[in-house]
Amino acid sequence: MANNLLKGKRGIIFGALDENSIAWKTALKVKEEGGSFTLTNAPIAMRLGKINELAKACDSEVIPADATSEEDLKNLFSKSIDVLGGKMDFVLHSIGMSPNIRKGKEYGDMNYEWYQKTLDISALSFHKVMQTAEKLDGMNEWGSIIALSYIAAQRSYPDYTDMAQAKAMLESIARSYGARYAKLKKVRVNTISQSPTRTTAGAGISGFDVFYDYAQMMSPLGNATAEDCANYITIMFSDFTRMVTMQNLMHDGGFSSTGITQDLIERLTK
Ligand SMILES: NC(=O)c1ccc[n+]([C@@H]2O[C@H](COP(=O)([O-])OP(=O)(O)OC[C@H]3O[C@@H](n4cnc5c(N)ncnc54)[C@H](O)[C@@H]3O)[C@@H](O)[C@H]2O)c1
Repeated sequence: MANNLLKGKRGIIFGALDENSIAWKTALKVKEEGGSFTLTNAPIAMRLGKINELAKACDSEVIPADATSEEDLKNLFSKSIDVLGGKMDFVLHSIGMSPNIRKGKEYGDMNYEWYQKTLDISALSFHKVMQTAEKLDGMNEWGSIIALSYIAAQRSYPDYTDMAQAKAMLESIARSYGARYAKLKKVRVNTISQSPTRTTAGAGISGFDVFYDYAQMMSPLGNATAEDCANYITIMFSDFTRMVTMQNLMHDGGFSSTGITQDLIERLTK
């Protein structure tokens, strides 16, 4: 049921590749709650993905941008302001990619050029998005900016390799830019640390099914789905969370506070 939580608000949603993407579900939810937005993704992803389908459903314009390119980001913010008729109230950074993971590289055999690409795409791009927004004065007061993280920023996961450092950096950028943007413009900046979710990026991690099942057993509420995440992001874009900033918000069914669960004990003693 829609409550018009985002009525009159404008924004940019990065990272909707297909209907499984967290950004895809978020776009539908934000639209349902009355928000208007532009959609963006890397030019290559546009050719492979189905973003135009989503744009049609959301009555949105698609503006391609490689999130590592300052020029593309500048164009994205300027065009979004034109198309939507004003500055942004919300931005979702839902971007992650590691060439090392894609190519199946182990942590002791990293390609450092690719490592830097991982950091550039999955973390530094978040800084670039905010610096671009600041320089163009593209955010309204009390705006909300969210990026998506994973608990591998705090704990080791063998197959998450260089993405663990990217997520740690992403969360750190949220704190540093959050402090700055609060003072400048009362804009809040947070990361949401999401449960393992079956998407293109998620399923690209080897052993994904095992840690999905493990997290399911270790989360008293079970894994949070992409739809659950979209709901949480929507609340974070709304005026009900105006004083939340510089946080890494755990959205994981209780996983991060759990030692062991009865489910796991039963499985291991079977
Ligand atoms: N799926 C999970 O298990 C999980 C768990 C926690 C956090 N996350 C995070 O959620 C976010 C969204 O991922 P998802 O699971 O919806 O998968 P997804 O594959 O649907 O989305 C990742 C997006 O990043 C985009 N992208 C890659 N390189 C880009 C670039 N240079 N410029 C712009 N966009 C680029 C891709 O095109 C894609 O749309 C990512 O930050 C991911 O790390 C995912």
